[in-house]
Amino acid sequence: MRERCDLLVHSAAELLTMAAGPDGPLRGDALRDPGAIADGAVAIRGDRIVAVGTTADLRARFDASNDIDASGRVVMPGFVDPHTHLVFGRTREDEFEMRCLGRTYEEIAAAGGGIRASARRFRSLPREAIVAQAKATRASALRHGTTTVEVKSGYGLATDAELLALEVAGELDVAGDVVRTFLGAHEIPDEWRADRRGYVRLVIDQMLPRVAERKLARFCDVFCEAHVFTPDETREICVAAKRLGLGVKLHADELAGTGGAELAVELGATSADHLMAVSDAGIAALAKSETVAVLLPGTSFFLGMKRFAPARAMIDAGCAVALATDCNPGSSMCENPQQVVSIACIGLHLRPIEALAMFTRNAAYAVGLGTDRGRLAAGFRADLIVLDVPNHRHVAYHHGVNHVATVVAAGVVRR
Ligand code: NIG
Ligand code: FE
Repeated sequence: MRERCDLLVHSAAELLTMAAGPDGPLRGDALRDPGAIADGAVAIRGDRIVAVGTTADLRARFDASNDIDASGRVVMPGFVDPHTHLVFGRTREDEFEMRCLGRTYEEIAAAGGGIRASARRFRSLPREAIVAQAKATRASALRHGTTTVEVKSGYGLATDAELLALEVAGELDVAGDVVRTFLGAHEIPDEWRADRRGYVRLVIDQMLPRVAERKLARFCDVFCEAHVFTPDETREICVAAKRLGLGVKLHADELAGTGGAELAVELGATSADHLMAVSDAGIAALAKSETVAVLLPGTSFFLGMKRFAPARAMIDAGCAVALATDCNPGSSMCENPQQVVSIACIGLHLRPIEALAMFTRNAAYAVGLGTDRGRLAAGFRADLIVLDVPNHRHVAYHHGVNHVATVVAAGVVRR
């Protein structure tokens, strides 16, 4: 008896399942062979994948109400972008130009620019303007293949403005595709510069309880970095967040190493992100843990740094590594995961297949959704993209253009 399905995506030149091996993020050599089917097909019912196989197999098994012919194209899971700051309100191209001419990101921040400048601009905007910006950026990310996106607050830096950012992030959600993270500890805002302790208390005593009570976020993040939040302040905030039931993600060892990776492991963080300046001890700690190392090479590129995270050493050590865009107006104004895949291959010395696995299956683990999405396998959420490329290497190789022809999110064709 033939089974019914709603949608059959078939005839893919290359279907990347990312479903090889046992559950869990792909580590080490397993990243090189995440599972591919030539002349592949995916059968979808409702918002779930019901079968994956060759076109001949699935055609014999299923009667489909609709179909997508992916002949000559690559089909893979939708990108999961596990680290963005995409509710920002206003852009900072003025600072970009200053950096192009030689000022550094840190100099601009120390002079009152950077995240603090964004906070001033964010607070001066009407809600509708913030919603319009966030929806436009999210729509662009979807057109570029991002089916699940993590979105942080962190440009309000005051209780109401932080809550507003998380509410706006919630408005971006269509079908469970937005994961929210509270990042009140992104920077010390202007009015608390003389009393940083006071700001940390505000985050812990006022912001976090309201975020938790209103279930506005799944995770809490802290920018643990020299001149921002110290490891002790980071620990204090994250311990409070965990007590309230939030998971932890950290901005760790981004610019100068401060033991952020080790702290993330100590805290049982779901992810430790950036890691450009991670130490050998930090790599060893991550390798022994479930904490996913989220690498953001688009940020190294955009900040004009010669230094990238030591991805190969992390892969060799057995760390679970993922990729993200870090989409934000200061250090990575890019919502396109394909562009970041190119930068990752060149800057982190990755094979294109490794980068794609890191941006799907492993990225899903970095937002706590690894057993629900990021793979093309029966039972997983039907999030997939059809790319107009002859093979997967072209996604990285032919850079700066959008290869996405079709996006299916939760079983619905969205582009
Ligand atoms: O991930 N590191 C902290 N936050 C962002 C930068 C935010 C900004 O400059 O607006 C980042 O790089
Ligand atoms: Fe970030």
